[in-house]
Amino acid sequence: MTAPQTAGDATQDRVLIFDTTLRDGEQSPGASMTLEEKLQVAVLLDDMGVDIIEAGFPIASNGDFEAVSEIAKRVKRATVAGLARAGQKDVDRAGEAVKHAVKPRIHTFISTSPVHMKYKLQMEPERVLEMVTASVTRARNWVDDVEWSAEDGTRTEIDFLCRCVEAAIRAGATTINIPDTVGYTTPEEYAALFRTVRARVPNADKAVFSVHCHNDLGMAVANTLAGVQGGARQIECTINGIGERAGNAALEEVVMALKTRSDAYPYACGVDSRMLTRASKLVAAVTSFPVQYNKAIVGRNAFAHESGIHQDGMLKNTETYEIMTPESVGVSKTSLVMGKHSGRHAFREKLKELGYDLGENAFEDAFKRFKDLADRKKHVYDEDLEALVDDEILTAHDRIKVVALTVIAGTQGPQLATLTLDVEGTHKTVQASGNGPVDACFNAIKALAPHEARLELYQVHAVTEGTDAQAEVSVRLSEDGKSVTAKAADPDTLVASARAYLGALNKLMTKRLRGKPEALQAG
Ligand code: KIV
Ligand code: ZN
Repeated sequence: MTAPQTAGDATQDRVLIFDTTLRDGEQSPGASMTLEEKLQVAVLLDDMGVDIIEAGFPIASNGDFEAVSEIAKRVKRATVAGLARAGQKDVDRAGEAVKHAVKPRIHTFISTSPVHMKYKLQMEPERVLEMVTASVTRARNWVDDVEWSAEDGTRTEIDFLCRCVEAAIRAGATTINIPDTVGYTTPEEYAALFRTVRARVPNADKAVFSVHCHNDLGMAVANTLAGVQGGARQIECTINGIGERAGNAALEEVVMALKTRSDAYPYACGVDSRMLTRASKLVAAVTSFPVQYNKAIVGRNAFAHESGIHQDGMLKNTETYEIMTPESVGVSKTSLVMGKHSGRHAFREKLKELGYDLGENAFEDAFKRFKDLADRKKHVYDEDLEALVDDEILTAHDRIKVVALTVIAGTQGPQLATLTLDVEGTHKTVQASGNGPVDACFNAIKALAPHEARLELYQVHAVTEGTDAQAEVSVRLSEDGKSVTAKAADPDTLVASARAYLGALNKLMTKRLRGKPEALQAG
């Protein structure tokens, strides 16, 4: 067994960053990721310097178990955590999933608030307390590094919370998380909660305290930082703030607040902030959740200065309106990259600069698509390449792919789509009509790959400026209560639409194969 992340790692002036994009983030409706996508995110988080990666909820499904266990094998530096409810089966499944990690952690939780204990668990507080001890003890039989969470901690009676925390530490928990599960707390209240618990629990100095905030009132990041001021030294957060309902505290905001306002928050963290933009783009691509334009740190407008007064000030001295540099979060200036004469070497160098490291086959496919794009589009920008490569990565393992599409559209209906798909190695062609060209394309897909999934979302936006810009299309499909989203980019909006639809269908098929044996909830 290896040394756990303990109070020694999170010193007075160092906070640990615990990323839960792959667990709490993936619980956002429609944000599910494939195994390959989760591995890519985990490797990037590890490279970026995240201390703990919560890779999933192993008991939730075979797919979740497999993802946690593969991530545990692949991640070299960070601790890899698997989530478990307080039952023995949950804890054992999490232990089994993380056992190959260089630094494994089991994160076990149970609700402690009156409303959760009475209605959700239907348990008396004394029984909950027994389960705290039993679950942590069982987890310690698997690993040295055990985190215990008091679900709905901010709405828990303080005396009972202190008794649970003390019991968890006595049973061997090395990290104690007090989540604001429903996004209800305020910064002052959350800071005071940590001060009180740390002062009242006699063995509090044996554990690292952790914050975990949801954004229902838009205060997740503020509450997170307040919790750290109250003595917590682990921050649980997600890339782009994705997560249940309104999401979790955004990792990029927390990291940049610590860095930019180190006068107010004098705590070091190990994350390389220059990788934040790359991480945001990857998570947006694999979840197909767009990042709002004015999102702090990673939004498209986060460093854009539009008004004349601001531009004038910026030209005189960037500090007039810029509290951090775009470079510090990894934003490279939009640049004209290459044209159709650019060769493999230049393309490889450019991809490296954008943070991509593709295998030989993926590189060759991406290069071919770049050449096609450069033939059709006058200016190829960094954003174009990112859309193209993300697309390549996302579709690499698809079982059904677009081979050819011709559409007849315009005022004289009916609109017709002639589509050829590669369905697991066999080419199939059909012609279908529809109420508009997009409908015709989707009907053609349904004819070749019959399914019951319902279209929940169809969205188009331009990757760059200009009428020859690539269209980026997002499609969300749902089936049997599961929903998945996929994105695709192409200069032809209809080709992008067909590919995005198929991307979502491929994800649904993968989900169907992996199955979800139990309905689970973790906030
Ligand atoms: O929000 C929450 O309470 C959670 C726990 C499972 C840690 O996500
Ligand atoms: Zn949560």
